[in-house]
Amino acid sequence: MSFPKNFLWGGAVAGNQCEGAYLEDGKGLSVPDMLLGGDVNTPRTFLPVTDPDAFYPSHEAIDFYHRYKEDIKLFAEMGFKCFRLSINWGRIFPNGDDAEPNEAGLQFYDNVFDECAKYGIEPLVTLCHYEIPWAIVTKYHGFLSRETIDLFVKYATTCFKRYKDKVKYWLTFNEINIPCMGEGGIGNLYGLGLMDDADINATERILLTDLKSDEQKTFEALHNQFVASALTVKAGHEINPDFVIGNMIAHVTVYPLTPNPKDILACMDEDNIKNNFCGDVQVRGEYPDFIFRYFKEHNIDTSFITEEDKKILKEGTVDMYTFSYYQSGCVTVSDDADMIAGNMSKSAKNPYLKASDWGWQIDPDGLRYTLNYLHDRYPKTPLMVVENGFGAFDKVEEDGSIHDDYRIAYFKPHIEAMKEAIEDGVPLIGFTTWGPIDLVSAGTGQYAKRYGFIYVDRHDDGTGDFSRSRKDSFYWYKKVIESNGEEI
Ligand code: BG6
Repeated sequence: MSFPKNFLWGGAVAGNQCEGAYLEDGKGLSVPDMLLGGDVNTPRTFLPVTDPDAFYPSHEAIDFYHRYKEDIKLFAEMGFKCFRLSINWGRIFPNGDDAEPNEAGLQFYDNVFDECAKYGIEPLVTLCHYEIPWAIVTKYHGFLSRETIDLFVKYATTCFKRYKDKVKYWLTFNEINIPCMGEGGIGNLYGLGLMDDADINATERILLTDLKSDEQKTFEALHNQFVASALTVKAGHEINPDFVIGNMIAHVTVYPLTPNPKDILACMDEDNIKNNFCGDVQVRGEYPDFIFRYFKEHNIDTSFITEEDKKILKEGTVDMYTFSYYQSGCVTVSDDADMIAGNMSKSAKNPYLKASDWGWQIDPDGLRYTLNYLHDRYPKTPLMVVENGFGAFDKVEEDGSIHDDYRIAYFKPHIEAMKEAIEDGVPLIGFTTWGPIDLVSAGTGQYAKRYGFIYVDRHDDGTGDFSRSRKDSFYWYKKVIESNGEEI
């Protein structure tokens, strides 16, 4: 059992969670810039105007914008073959609908890609990682408007043309299935830039869990996003036929809580809606049959799926299927099961699994299972795990060292599981850990939920000097990559 020779080992970040410089060099406001921090027990809040007294973590994040050279050098020291990052849409089109792109924003990513090239690191670029320009939310209701399809395609093609010789691997939308997780307004806001007018105009902070939502609008906006993604894939292949363009799914693997056939069926239904629906559209190029039953039972009017759109979806299927994998959950028809929550999903608790301090259940075997499941579902499509990691509190010792053996203990069996899946015949092409450097948590807005191999001195009270240091896991991951996954 071993990893293929050109396996893409690396790490993944998102612009809004690491760059900071939220208004620098012409960047416009985007959704994350309106979000305040929370913690494991307190949801994040949203405030549509920037409150001078409030602490918005994305505004400075970890200052990657000014420190990318140092950070990429550290990634290179670990031996990264691949670095997944997002282009922050609002740096390129500050209002989303500007006539011309912002040259300073384009130049920033040129610099980042050049820095990667210096070390032979292949960039993997997410075009939209929960970073919809705020003006698109207020003016167009995000992807609910078909005009946003054109705005996104214009943005994507601008990036494709500019970076066609620097970037080969692309992803259209991060975790496009988040709006299907049944958590209402939060998925709509992060994924689709879709908010109720009353929420947009709110003057008081709103808990993200209290954002209003309407399923009809969710599916309509998601449909527009599918169309935008497919048109982007088509356009990308015309600009450079060598581009490899993927989708990205938040895969929350589910098991039936018991062998009760009712639980099995409930699990099948949930898996279909939450995990399979979006992947099927993007890989197979058509809506799967099961979703129409769901639409019927939820009174969703599907007239937004036009014949022309169906053709576009067929022509714009992705070249690879990528996904995030952190945890699994259970499904049951019983009302009294204990529940656990991810950042934007909920499931019944699995009695066989332990969980992180944020309650995310740790299930490396589930990764092997998921890889096999996906390969069976999409047999011709290469797979890539583009997020996996362990959010934890880290302690800095007096001598500055950080002994994060719990993080290593999380990764080891997950890497074993990928090896097993490769042995099972799964065409897995790469693995990028989430947050190879500490960054702002998307779910809670915390710095304290650390994922990195590299520690960043920055804290939830706004203190810290942003200095970087290597944790024990840094040296461990370096060895993993050096040995191509043999020494774990
Ligand atoms: C994924 C997102 O949902 O999980 C990332 O793509 C996010 O943006 C990651 O940071 C980990 O979640 P969290 O809530 O711990 O930051």
